[in-house]
Amino acid sequence: MTRAAGDLRVFETPQDLAEGVADAFATLAQDAIGKRGSFAVALAGGTTPKAAYALLGREPYASQIDWPHVQIFFGDERCVSPDDAESNYNMARTAFLSSVRVPADNVHRMHGEDDPAQAARDYAETLIEFLGPDTRFDLLMLGMGPDGHTASLFPGSDPRTDEAQLVRAVWVQKMQTHRITLTPAVINRARHVIIATEGAAKAQMLHTVRGSEYDPVRYPVQIVKPDDGVLEWFVDRAAASKTDITKRYVTDYFRW
Ligand code: 6PG
Repeated sequence: MTRAAGDLRVFETPQDLAEGVADAFATLAQDAIGKRGSFAVALAGGTTPKAAYALLGREPYASQIDWPHVQIFFGDERCVSPDDAESNYNMARTAFLSSVRVPADNVHRMHGEDDPAQAARDYAETLIEFLGPDTRFDLLMLGMGPDGHTASLFPGSDPRTDEAQLVRAVWVQKMQTHRITLTPAVINRARHVIIATEGAAKAQMLHTVRGSEYDPVRYPVQIVKPDDGVLEWFVDRAAASKTDITKRYVTDYFRW
C-alpha cells in the first residue's frame, strides 16, 4: 500500500483555497446533476471549509448550483445538539445551507444528540435509503487534523476494523467525547474526495502523511484512497511549506 495518495493542489492563500474548493464543488455538482440527475455530497466539519461554504451561499456560486437536486450529508459529527456551536451541521447551516434553496428534506444530518451507537446505525440506514446499497458519494469532503486524523478517524483506533460498517460511533480519548463518523468503506467508494487543509500548523503532518510509510493507525488520513474515484488535496502554501512542491505529484499554483 502506498503513502497518502492523491494530487496536491497548492493555492497561494486560504481565500484562494476556499475559491478552489467552491469552484470544484460547483463543477462537480453540475457534472453529477447533468449525468445522474442529482449530486450527493458529504460535507467536512471543522473550521477549514467554512470560507468555501460561505462562498457557496452567495453569488456567483449560489446560482451555479441546482440546489433542489443536491443531497447534503456529513462526513462526521460531534455528539452535541444541532444548535450547539460545536455541531458540524450547525456550522454548515450557518455558513450556507440556510442561504441556498436546498430543500430541508435534502439535508441529512447525523443526530449527534442521540445515543452515538444508535445515531450511527440510523445514519447508515439513511445512507442506504438515499444513495442505494453502494452508498457512493459524488463528492466527499474531508479535512485533516495536525495529528493526521480525518473525519472522526483518530490516531490509535485502527480505521480498518470496520470494513462492513458504513458509520461508526467512536470514543475519542484525547477529547473525552464520542463522535459519529463515516468509515473508510464509505469514504473510499466516493467518486471524488477533496481533502482541504491549510495553515502552517498542518505543514509537518502533510509532509509526514505524504512521505511516510503507510500506517493508518498512526496517520488515519492515509486510509483515504478511493477504490476508483479521484482524490485531491487542496492546500494553501503555508500547509505545503514542508512539502517539496516541485515533485511530479504536485500541480503548482492552481486555479480550478
Ligand atoms: C471535525 C472534522 C475534522 C476536521 C479536522 C480539521 O469534525 O472537526 O471532521 O476531521 O476536518 O479536525 O479541522 P480544522 O479544519 O478545524 O483544522
